[in-house]
Amino acid sequence: MASNAWRSAVQHVAGALRKETRTFSRGMQTVTLIPGDGIGPEISTAVMKIFEAAQAPIQWEERNVTAIKGPGGKWVIPPDAKESMDRNKMGLKGPLKTPIAAGHPSMNLLLRKTFDLYSNVRPCVSIEGYKTPYTDVNLVTIRENTEGEYSGIEHVIVDGVVQSIKLITEQASQRIAEYAFEYARNNKRTSVTAVHKANIMRMSDGLFLRKCREAAERNKDIKFTEMYLDTVCLNMVQDPTQFDILVMPNLYGDILSDLCAGLIGGLGVTPSGNIGTNGVAIFESVHGTAPDIAGKDMANPTALLLSAVMMLRHMGLHDHAKRIETACFDTIRDKKVLTGDLGGKSKCSEFTEAICQRVRDL
Ligand code: IPM
Ligand code: MN
Repeated sequence: MASNAWRSAVQHVAGALRKETRTFSRGMQTVTLIPGDGIGPEISTAVMKIFEAAQAPIQWEERNVTAIKGPGGKWVIPPDAKESMDRNKMGLKGPLKTPIAAGHPSMNLLLRKTFDLYSNVRPCVSIEGYKTPYTDVNLVTIRENTEGEYSGIEHVIVDGVVQSIKLITEQASQRIAEYAFEYARNNKRTSVTAVHKANIMRMSDGLFLRKCREAAERNKDIKFTEMYLDTVCLNMVQDPTQFDILVMPNLYGDILSDLCAGLIGGLGVTPSGNIGTNGVAIFESVHGTAPDIAGKDMANPTALLLSAVMMLRHMGLHDHAKRIETACFDTIRDKKVLTGDLGGKSKCSEFTEAICQRVRDL
């Protein structure tokens, strides 16, 4: 794709704008920053430096998030983190570790549950100059983020037999379907594909699909198609350029969003936003904590940075978003200063400084 065409394609990618989202006034806005574990603090520092270079009107309120046992024995996030998010409504978060045998739920999931972040948005757009087997990928996965296979309802029926409940509700299906169309319209996209297995899970996926069809009826300006998940996977690896917006239940979205991230170079370059009700949203890098390189100044901050760019757009700070995004993509295209995972030899701090320099020059 020619550079300009590519630029305008990425322009509206990381939108996540909702019409009713409160308009942020001029002046400083406070955002809750959850640096996270492993490489989290390093990549968070990188984002803060780049925001400072761009003179983004954001001040950070740092909070740690660990699992805490609440009064009723329920797992909760620390009160000071909850209070900060309730007040600021906007959050940026690095990776959080969840040991499998930790005895508490994943903090990522607890955050989504705590703030009812019902929509997970992951734009996957090919990055010019970062070669993968695919070019011109430009799609967005929109994943139901609160229920489905992630309901956490599991039990032993008899010894050797366990059951896991995939919970699908009319309310959650309707709001995610409606969000997908709204996102499409607000971000100048043209089609929404509902991804499902209603041929097998006739009742649960059937309900999800019905709510998507009803939303399509109310949003006739956006093209609507429905496809089986397995067919989407097959078609996706054959030609991802046929897809635009994809909306689906929780686990399908978890898996398919990783697949799509793989098409553009992996989780290290893929942003993510969790959108909730009442203007609450948390933007996050989806990759892990990378403990093997933590503290070594080797991490790639791109995924967290592009998530922060999504956040700026969500807050209506389009100029700052554009400048930071352009500086990041220009640095990658230039290939001179890249972290190891991007094929270079530079440190995280050097890559960050290269982006800062471009931000200042733009
Ligand atoms: C993601 C992650 C999470 C998920 C994990 C960390 C709980 O893989 O955000 O996609 O399964 O949703
Ligand atoms: Mn995942």
